[in-house]
Amino acid sequence: MLFSLLLSLLLSALGSASSSTSRPDAYSLCDAQCLEAYQTSHNSERKLWATPNFSDDRFYDTPANATRAKPGDLLRWEDVSTERMSTNFTGIPGGLSVSRMIYMTEDIDRKPITASAYILLPYSLEIYGDLGATRFRTLAWAHGTVGHSRQCAPSNNQNLAYGWKAPIFFANSGYAVIATDYAGLGTQVPGGFRYEGGFLHAADVAYSVIAARKVIGHLLTDEWAVVGHSEGGLTAWRTNERLAMPNQDELLKAGTFLGAVSVAPALRPSELLRKAFAGDGPIYAPVSVYVMKSIQGLYPELQIKDWLTPEARELMPLLEQSCLSAGLALYSKLTAKQVFTNTTWIDSPAFRDWESRVNGAGPHALAAPMLVVQGLDDQITYTEEFTRDFKRTCDAFPESSAELLLVPELGHDPALYAAQPYYLAYIQRLFAGTCQQRRCSIRTIKPITKHFQQYFVGY
Ligand SMILES: *[C@@H]1O[C@H](CO)[C@@H](O)[C@H](O)[C@H]1NC(C)=O
Ligand SMILES: *[C@@H]1O[C@H](CO)[C@@H](O)[C@H](O)[C@H]1NC(C)=O
Ligand SMILES: *[C@@H]1O[C@H](CO)[C@@H](O)[C@H](O)[C@H]1NC(C)=O
Ligand SMILES: *[C@@H]1O[C@H](CO)[C@@H](O)[C@H](O)[C@H]1NC(C)=O
Repeated sequence: MLFSLLLSLLLSALGSASSSTSRPDAYSLCDAQCLEAYQTSHNSERKLWATPNFSDDRFYDTPANATRAKPGDLLRWEDVSTERMSTNFTGIPGGLSVSRMIYMTEDIDRKPITASAYILLPYSLEIYGDLGATRFRTLAWAHGTVGHSRQCAPSNNQNLAYGWKAPIFFANSGYAVIATDYAGLGTQVPGGFRYEGGFLHAADVAYSVIAARKVIGHLLTDEWAVVGHSEGGLTAWRTNERLAMPNQDELLKAGTFLGAVSVAPALRPSELLRKAFAGDGPIYAPVSVYVMKSIQGLYPELQIKDWLTPEARELMPLLEQSCLSAGLALYSKLTAKQVFTNTTWIDSPAFRDWESRVNGAGPHALAAPMLVVQGLDDQITYTEEFTRDFKRTCDAFPESSAELLLVPELGHDPALYAAQPYYLAYIQRLFAGTCQQRRCSIRTIKPITKHFQQYFVGY
């Protein structure tokens, strides 16, 4: 208690110190009230960072032996001690163990780059009543948008960014959870974080499983599955596709891939952004700026400075210091006209090439069964847009074992909670080998009452 009090005093001192340096009291697109909202969100964000001053955490420094390492190699492993769990990972419930690792994944040209991840282990092999169990079922978790800066990595978060919404729920259901931060969140990589780079995130997932096996392989089933939400819903879907493509022998060493659960997938940024840009209203701008930063990292011909208005550019340093919630306080009320000189960048050759090769827009065949879950009130990943992708997959590959579950009257995060029992049962069927359908289906579930919670998005 005393410690957390001191911590918040320290943080507010840091907050006022940095705001009293050279920052203006207001910007053209963010007045004093907006800046105050930004600062409040940013302070709350920082309280959740496992190491508030990220550059103090040597864990994320590139290990010396990265130079000659290959994708899938483990470079650093750290078991988070019980003592540090009580100060730096306070959102982890009793009995779970956390480790973090730096490992090698690969870039779009297949050259090795570093990524970080955390690993969550349940308390005991015996606690779920299966007294004969000798291994945990292996589940990769793919997180959604948390920000674009290194310190936003879920492994640098007191509750792993998603808490009970996903990784803790899975670990407490008996799964070993291996959760990549994705290359460039956490670790430092040339060009920075490949936000929404689904095809690359798929490699980050597969190699995280390979690397984790080097330390805890004896505790993990050879079979594994992947679950993800939003950006991670994209990742889970792309993992299922990439593992069916040629020349993926190295990724396939992750083990026997059983299937994917893709919740509220942010599949095709061009379609999501085009729809957002079509109106005159707010465009959820931090996310579009993150996409642009991601493309700029690999395609120097597309430069943020050429497309952001000067007024929006002024806010970039604040965006870079913060993560998604402060980014939303800063940019979310802005319209396309306020943020971009024009929006034709989503039709540029760089964007198209990025979307096809890096985001990995399909349709592509699936390696294994897939359950897609979507809240019908989702205002972030629109149902209509990605249902089209679901149908494209089913039209091109009618033998796919793919199910789309629609969850009425719930949005992007509430649907992730509401459908937990459904997709947990699906994952259990994957591991039991009883998920054999060879066709596509769409199903809408019915809520039992009319007074269910619709707004809670927290952890
Ligand atoms: C843990 O938290 C403390 C207090 O915020 C911080 O000083 C320290 O750098 C953090 N990280 C590690 C690795 O202990
Ligand atoms: C964070 O740590 C770095 C390196 O230890 C230091 O240079 C920097 O001043 C610190 N930042 C803050 C805001 O304390
Ligand atoms: C890199 O060094 C770490 C720490 O010494 C070691 O655990 C790891 O196995 C090494 N990895 C490679 C690929 O050399
Ligand atoms: C849109 O902005 C780009 C980059 O600033 C510029 O090159 C292009 O001419 C603009 N297009 C239109 C139609 O205004």
